[in-house]
Amino acid sequence: MTRYTVTSEIFTENENLSEDRNSNTISSFVFKYPSYMIKQNNPNGIVINRDKDDDIDIDRQQEGKLLIEHRTSTELQHVGLQVWRGALLLADYILSNPDLFRDKIVLELGAGVGLTSIVASFLAKEVICTDINVKGILKLIRRNIERNKSYIKSKICTNELDFLNLDWPTFTKQNLHQATVILAADVIYDETITTGFVQTLAKLLNSETPKVVYIALEKRFVFTTADMETVAPMFEDFLRRIEREQLNWDVEYVKIDFPRYFNYNRVKHMILMKIRNKLTEQCN
Ligand SMILES: C[S@@+](CC[C@H](N)C(=O)[O-])C[C@H]1O[C@@H](n2cnc3c(N)ncnc32)[C@H](O)[C@@H]1O
Repeated sequence: MTRYTVTSEIFTENENLSEDRNSNTISSFVFKYPSYMIKQNNPNGIVINRDKDDDIDIDRQQEGKLLIEHRTSTELQHVGLQVWRGALLLADYILSNPDLFRDKIVLELGAGVGLTSIVASFLAKEVICTDINVKGILKLIRRNIERNKSYIKSKICTNELDFLNLDWPTFTKQNLHQATVILAADVIYDETITTGFVQTLAKLLNSETPKVVYIALEKRFVFTTADMETVAPMFEDFLRRIEREQLNWDVEYVKIDFPRYFNYNRVKHMILMKIRNKLTEQCN
């Protein structure tokens, strides 16, 4: 089998991030505090630092810093050990729309290093952060949660959820079905994984508890000499599957002009989709 090595562009476009191609590295992901997170009138907010004269320390007031352990380069099977742009796009969306996430039970699929789940935990009631259990990824997420616990306001747990195994134990099933918000960043890049992802969403969206799904992705373009057109095959495959399997989903594209709190290049071929099951919406 060919072994492809891939590298997320995040590490070349953000000068704060460390580069160590051989092993895990820990980088600071700096973000601006949204005004509602600052503890002036908000008891759940973050404490504003004051200098020795009791003046507000402006720089520290405006910025927070997540410490994230990750890799900068991996084989294709282990891309979850890196941070991808979709994770930061979703994190920005969460911080820009606090009312959609505040006090909610949030489930993240294919969470990678856990950055988006950690940001969701600033606001949610509970976050269920999931991925496959390979190459120590779940342990890595737990270490990242521990590193950033001063920011975390919700209950947050890490569980295995493999799109290719939908035979969930009863406890997992009950837990997952309670979620009302589902997040997934950059999980549409491979045919088999995309098939499993659609089936996983179909199972979750068939639950009695209505759910809204936010999917962030960077269209992965290839240039096909056959038709001389630029296409994003996996994204198009994902949309085709929704239609072919008559899933009755309402797919909406969210404009990605919301504020940027994290530092990354929000390239124009990034997409944020909002999906709901039309049928469960009607029953409730
Ligand atoms: C490109 S990474 C994105 C990671 C993270 N969401 C981000 O945006 O930084 C794809 C993610 O999908 C996960 N994944 C791959 N196969 C999967 C499967 N069968 N079931 C669940 N997740 C899977 C990977 O482990 C990885 O975390």
